[in-house]
Amino acid sequence: MNVAPHIVYTASKLLKEVIRTNRETKGATIIAVINQKGGVGKSTTTINLSAALGELGKQVLLVDLDPQGNATSGLGVEKTPEIKCVYDGLINDEAADKLIIRAITDGVDIIPATINLAGAEVELMNEYARERRLAELLGPTRKDYEYVLVDCPPSLGQLTINALTAADYLIIPIQCEFYALEGLTKLLETVKIVKTRMNNDLDILGVLMTMYDSRTSLANQVVEEVAAYFGDTVFRTKIPRTVRLAEAPSFGKSILAYDPKGKGATAYRELAKEVIDRG
Ligand SMILES: Nc1ncnc2c1ncn2[C@@H]1O[C@H](COP(=O)(O)OP(=O)(O)OP(=O)(O)O)[C@@H](O)[C@H]1O
Ligand SMILES: [Mg+2]
Repeated sequence: MNVAPHIVYTASKLLKEVIRTNRETKGATIIAVINQKGGVGKSTTTINLSAALGELGKQVLLVDLDPQGNATSGLGVEKTPEIKCVYDGLINDEAADKLIIRAITDGVDIIPATINLAGAEVELMNEYARERRLAELLGPTRKDYEYVLVDCPPSLGQLTINALTAADYLIIPIQCEFYALEGLTKLLETVKIVKTRMNNDLDILGVLMTMYDSRTSLANQVVEEVAAYFGDTVFRTKIPRTVRLAEAPSFGKSILAYDPKGKGATAYRELAKEVIDRG
């Protein structure tokens, strides 16, 4: 086949431009904090890792994708049903910048969740390309941030599938307790399906051991078990069990603001450095 040289030239130039634009406009690294098991430290990690990245001078957007709204209230946002929330973006096509509450803590903006989000699981079923709604919502605002952290609900429903489809990376918190690995196979199967069908670039950034108490042999056994299963994927940083981390959300503060010198704040600062190195 004979193709005129100027067409080949124009096509290759265009292709280079498209690739370059893609790279330049992609912007923030999107990290979903995910585990369908409840109470393992997803919201605590999303809040405090966001704050620690913000403290290091990064521009961070926290997206609360859990109708419980724990990351929203944990950063002091009053989640009345009247405020706009991520639901309005996913279902009512509101632009992300209409939903963002700015500078909630140093370097961190938030798209909040209110109880309105509870309806989204069912309503998403009727949407066109329903698993891509979050990716579409975040697309235009991604260039304004270095990291977008998504706090997922404790289920593998439509909201979590949206997070998996939008994300570049996952952080999987695992609580250092009995049955820690329960449900992980199901989670990894879901990740594999989304990666194959919707989001080839999806990767696990790291597995995070939470609520670690070095004095108990159980916690150490769990850490060993998880290391045997996940190897280097496990973050070096373990999040200690400390009552300060449990108290901070009731003051609407991150641990960095509530107890800046404590071991919880130190651990989340270390984690932020590891995240920057990995992602
Ligand atoms: N390192 C820690 N030390 C002590 N308490 C913690 C720690 N991390 C989390 N907690 C507490 O454990 C409970 C569960 O944590 P969190 O809400 O972060 O989990 P989650 O995975 O987001 O839960 P859910 O699945 O309900 O969304 C909360 O009361 C929280 O304050
Ligand atoms: Mg939570």
